[in-house]
Amino acid sequence: MPPDPELVTYLKLHGQEHLLRFWEELDSVARGNLVREIRSLDLDRLDSLIHSLVLTENGDSSLPPIDRVKPIDVRRLPRTDAERVARRQVAEIGAAALAAGEVGVVLVAGGSGTRLGFEGPKGTYPIGAVTGSSLFQIHAEKIVAAGKRYGKPIPLYVMTSPENNQSTSDFFATHKNFGLSHVRFFVQGQMPAVDQSTGKVLLAGAGQIALSPDGHGGTLKALAQPDQSGVSCLDEMRNLGIRTLSYFQVDNPLVRIADPAFLGLHRQAGAEMSFKVIEKQFPEEKLGVVVSVDGIAQVIEYSDLPPVLAERREPEGGLELWAGSIAVHILERSFIERLVSEHSLPYHRAFKKVAYINDSGTLVKPSTLNAVKFETFIFDALPLAERSVLAESNRSIEFEPLKNATGPDSPVTVRQQMSNVFADWLEGAGAIVPRKPDGSSEFAIEISPLYALDAVELKSKLAPGFVVEGPLAIR
Ligand code: UD1
Repeated sequence: MPPDPELVTYLKLHGQEHLLRFWEELDSVARGNLVREIRSLDLDRLDSLIHSLVLTENGDSSLPPIDRVKPIDVRRLPRTDAERVARRQVAEIGAAALAAGEVGVVLVAGGSGTRLGFEGPKGTYPIGAVTGSSLFQIHAEKIVAAGKRYGKPIPLYVMTSPENNQSTSDFFATHKNFGLSHVRFFVQGQMPAVDQSTGKVLLAGAGQIALSPDGHGGTLKALAQPDQSGVSCLDEMRNLGIRTLSYFQVDNPLVRIADPAFLGLHRQAGAEMSFKVIEKQFPEEKLGVVVSVDGIAQVIEYSDLPPVLAERREPEGGLELWAGSIAVHILERSFIERLVSEHSLPYHRAFKKVAYINDSGTLVKPSTLNAVKFETFIFDALPLAERSVLAESNRSIEFEPLKNATGPDSPVTVRQQMSNVFADWLEGAGAIVPRKPDGSSEFAIEISPLYALDAVELKSKLAPGFVVEGPLAIR
């Protein structure tokens, strides 16, 4: 049976009729799948992206002129006793929101984690320095512990991709959801990869488009997408009385989830979207920077930040654009509802190596960049927020992401930093902890959030005089 003539016309109109090139070779199931994939593409939108981001010389022009980019005001970490007292008072506001059950958690885990080179969802990576607990377990136990602390279980919403949704939900099921009372998985959208010189959509197989996740900006739309019973995550949150969302990425095991002080700052300011930032260590560090453009806060991704801006220094020598985003946010549910109904986030392009089927039906695995993928980023919602809080956080205790297989941000550095943080907690609780000459923990240490969520809780549980004599796991 030939393809639906209407579909053929639609594809021709957009110069993508090659997607049906292998139609004759496909069985009826494969044909059905291919038609579904084609119909899921918004080819009008894709046309304009191909035109503006692929086939034009200067491509991604989202960067503002550099003379309009200025540093942004950030709530610095408390430095005096009075500031510390004030921060504790603000944390009461966050604690009250948690106790009222008004806070939910969104974890984005739809990325493909190519740099880490790990088979399977990144969240299943056994990062625990002693027991090999997974990133998912560490995050989930923090949420369970926080729910107990504030007397209200905190629901978790995990964003997956079509590629890893099943394996992610299976992993949680195998571990009985790590004790969480409510977990819901929601699947992000996909975008096709296109050939970087022609703009043609690539085929990953004879009857299969080369699709990949549409970036974590897809979280917003995906939260509004109804499930089989017609209820979206946002609907469900509304029904549960959840007003505020604590958002984070799967790769950082040190993240403070639903941090009451951060929630408190956000609520006190009546903010719609808030960011945690840290001081960038050097100009090329791979952190998006929060900046002010004509007085409006926005993020410039590290890959888009021109060296001349990245290297600009204050008279005292520090980086002028120092506020690196650790991708930890608070979002009001009402803000997301407004965004999905009134706005769409801009797409960014990424040049990638994408395997594809060529015209003669042979699978080509390119050794150089051949394709463009399109992604939206959640941080592009920042300029749309009526109010926002940018709060400095402490890198050494809150940020050590797992990105690479070796070198910086790799399993070795992440395990060491987790052990260092726990070593500090233990010393604060009066324990004796052996250190290496550089001050880092000599032994691997792991403390389950179910035992202690922070240093204060550990101190309340551990008898002084405890001695660490080797690798240590406390549960
Ligand atoms: C990201 C930020 C960067 C920030 C840094 C902090 C982007 C584009 N950049 O960089 O500004 O300073 O983290 O660590 O995010 N994800 C999805 N779906 C997708 C793509 C990604 O869920 O379609 C998730 C991943 O699972 C991961 C997170 O988003 O949890 C980060 O994605 P990644 O592409 O690794 O961003 P980075 O380059 O690390």
